[in-house]
Amino acid sequence: MAVVCKSQPSDAENIAGIARPLRVGGAQWRNNILLAPMSGVSDVPFRRAAWRCGAGMVFSEMVASEALVTGHMEMQMKAESAGLPVHVVQLAGRQAGWMDHAARLAEANGADMIDINMGCPARKVTNGLSGSALMRDLDHAMELVEAVVNAVRLPVTLKMRLGWDNHSINAPELARRAVDAGVQMITVHGRTRCQFYKGRADWHAVRAVREAVDVPLIVNGDIGCAQTATAAMAASGADGVMLGRACYGQPGLPGDIARQLGADNPATEGRY
Ligand SMILES: Cc1cc2nc3c(=O)[nH]c(=O)nc-3n(C[C@H](O)[C@H](O)[C@H](O)COP(=O)(O)O)c2cc1C
Repeated sequence: MAVVCKSQPSDAENIAGIARPLRVGGAQWRNNILLAPMSGVSDVPFRRAAWRCGAGMVFSEMVASEALVTGHMEMQMKAESAGLPVHVVQLAGRQAGWMDHAARLAEANGADMIDINMGCPARKVTNGLSGSALMRDLDHAMELVEAVVNAVRLPVTLKMRLGWDNHSINAPELARRAVDAGVQMITVHGRTRCQFYKGRADWHAVRAVREAVDVPLIVNGDIGCAQTATAAMAASGADGVMLGRACYGQPGLPGDIARQLGADNPATEGRY
């Protein structure tokens, strides 16, 4: 379902400074309006277009760690930078050994950053105990986080949901433990796994993660215009937003919103 926005903030005073550079680890990214990883959508041409149009950061499609390490052609292609000026590789998996190895491969292939997927709700992923299924067992989740953080010198980030279901909202705990282990940015989709994509993303619920960690926090879910970006950041206290489905067919949307919110970023080729 596409996110529909009918109005934009009209008062420049209200939006001044909302779009701003984002510092993750040692690197400063050009703004805080990010393109989401989307399997089957955010491939290299899509990400190239989004980056050229001014997105603050772009992520690879989810790369299954075991398949990458064992030479699965599709995963190798998804993990390649293919000449992109910015290359954030998102890894998924359930075994620390594969995640460690995959992270090293991604680093050797020129990744700028590694993101770990603990948000994917798809049954074929969660039945393999990957993606959001990891939120059911935080000790296991942390084994993967620690494996990746210890495997590479790159900044490592983590994307999650609020929890598995309404009775197990544990994003704040997972975020806190991940940051203690060295994770340098957290993204939270404001739904539980059991919600899949139903209902509305709960940006207010992401505020508990804001209170748990002091690294950059990105709020995600149902954001598709400057107005919803502003509202989501206000409700959650996040430092930035991530846009997914609203970008279908319009990879330039994150950059457009960044400029509407005051980012000083004409479409550029460079990262800084
Ligand atoms: C087609 C599709 C593919 C997705 N693939 C991934 C993925 O590979 N990795 C991931 O972390 N999230 C993935 N997601 C989830 C999005 O990154 C995002 O969290 C979710 O769509 C909510 O944001 P939105 O409301 O802006 O779309 C996918 C979502 C869609 C719709």
